[in-house]
Amino acid sequence: MAHLLSTTSSLNALTSSRAYSKPLNQRSVIFPASFTLQTSKFAFKRLTLQEKRPQRVCTAHAATLSQEAQSGVKSGTHQISSDSSKPKKVMVIGGDGYCGWATALHLSDKNYEVAIVDNLVRRLFDHQLGLDSLTPIASIHNRIRRWKSLTGKDIGLYIGDICDFEFLSEAFKSFEPDAVVHFGEQRSAPYSMIDRSRAVFTQQNNVIGTLNVLFAIKEFGDECHLVKLGTMGEYGTPNIDIEEGYITITHNGRTDTLPYPKQASSFYHLSKVHDSHNIAFTCKAWGIRATDLNQGVVYGVRTDETEMHEELTNRFDYDGVFGTALNRFCVQAAVGHPLTVYGKGGQTRGYLDIRDTIQCVELAIANPAKPGEFRVFNQFTEQFSVKELAALVTKAGKKLGIDVQTKSVPNPRVEAEEHYYNAKHTKLIELGLQPHLLSDSLLDSLLNFAIKYKDRVDTKQIMPSVSWKKIGVKPKTVAA
Ligand SMILES: NC(=O)c1ccc[n+]([C@@H]2O[C@H](COP(=O)([O-])OP(=O)(O)OC[C@H]3O[C@@H](n4cnc5c(N)ncnc54)[C@H](O)[C@@H]3O)[C@@H](O)[C@H]2O)c1
Repeated sequence: MAHLLSTTSSLNALTSSRAYSKPLNQRSVIFPASFTLQTSKFAFKRLTLQEKRPQRVCTAHAATLSQEAQSGVKSGTHQISSDSSKPKKVMVIGGDGYCGWATALHLSDKNYEVAIVDNLVRRLFDHQLGLDSLTPIASIHNRIRRWKSLTGKDIGLYIGDICDFEFLSEAFKSFEPDAVVHFGEQRSAPYSMIDRSRAVFTQQNNVIGTLNVLFAIKEFGDECHLVKLGTMGEYGTPNIDIEEGYITITHNGRTDTLPYPKQASSFYHLSKVHDSHNIAFTCKAWGIRATDLNQGVVYGVRTDETEMHEELTNRFDYDGVFGTALNRFCVQAAVGHPLTVYGKGGQTRGYLDIRDTIQCVELAIANPAKPGEFRVFNQFTEQFSVKELAALVTKAGKKLGIDVQTKSVPNPRVEAEEHYYNAKHTKLIELGLQPHLLSDSLLDSLLNFAIKYKDRVDTKQIMPSVSWKKIGVKPKTVAA
């Protein structure tokens, strides 16, 4: 089992841009020259002035909109409202990541003009922690080149850090987005709980990055619609129904509709709560239009677009830091590892298929919020407890002749292990979402997918290695 070890110097060595940019072998990649996880006021030195200029690696030529896209009727299985203000240019921040890559391809396929903004820091986290995606993933440059060769469509690329406002503003001025989909955050709760430096990094990266996006919209594109990925984890697990963003309360005889209370349970989730507050405030103060998508746990990996070529394959995390519940269980079953249910396993959350992530984002873009509106959608399709997921994977394994065992492991998190959970999720359905529910056949194919790549699994990465209670100030890294 992987153990945690203090190795500040090797961490810093890994985080130096030279160590990172070399394997990518792309002169066009700009990466923070002295990116470091130290956290003094100016420790997050990003780019030197000369390096700051964003590079448009692939020019996003004006995509010719098909008649279908121009009329606003689109997206395979459902109809999207024909709104004349439908955005044509979409900036996908975090477009090299799990949700962002699938979304960028899907929107490009639907004839939106797409530009990805990403600093590739997610790939760096893997290097730091000795992790790897179950699936081999091509470089962002090769991904985009392959997409162009298959479809003739360009996807623009701006490599840089959104916490660097000069970089972000140049990207905004150059691309002039009608909508920004913001996936570009450190998104792992365990990562944010490794040590102080990761906690501080997560909050700086996420809160400042989002703040910069808000300022960029105000300054360079006040009509631009922000579609921001939040998480259902912002709400926690209250003992009442969870509403979509707002709740009407009567208190001492007076009634008001107020933001739904947030009870985040990691430094990562807390960063998302702060983002939501900043976005709500700027909608009110500056008239920004925004949709906060409180997403549930995403599972699956295949989408119509990523299936087109192996170089378009999406990442699939199964480790204890970045892997999410169902994806992890499928990989565990594939390699004969007992399913790791944390504690009692009654932890219930909202889940959705990655094909529904891209559908929801497309629906939000096609039906933008009004100026000044802070709209909140709960983006998931079904609720499951961890125990229920383990039972479903066990049943799917049996059909494939795999004997799947389940093991209760000590819960590394601080969370209720049995609780009430009932979260509303009707607003995206009202806009036309047609969910891909978790069926036996889908589980079979997810399990078969995991089996296909099982030789790439590093079983040392499976058990949880980050404890909510043991987080300390000493920098840590994972050693084999
Ligand atoms: N995956 C899930 O199950 C899930 C569930 C709920 C919410 N979300 C939210 O969806 C979003 C995307 O999640 P994901 O699973 O695709 O994550 P991911 O880590 O795979 O992708 C995030 C991408 O953002 C980039 N990024 C991070 N910080 C950046 C910065 N400062 N500047 C530029 N790029 C930066 C990373 O390099 C990475 O490519 C996140 O905001 C996450 O909180 C994800």
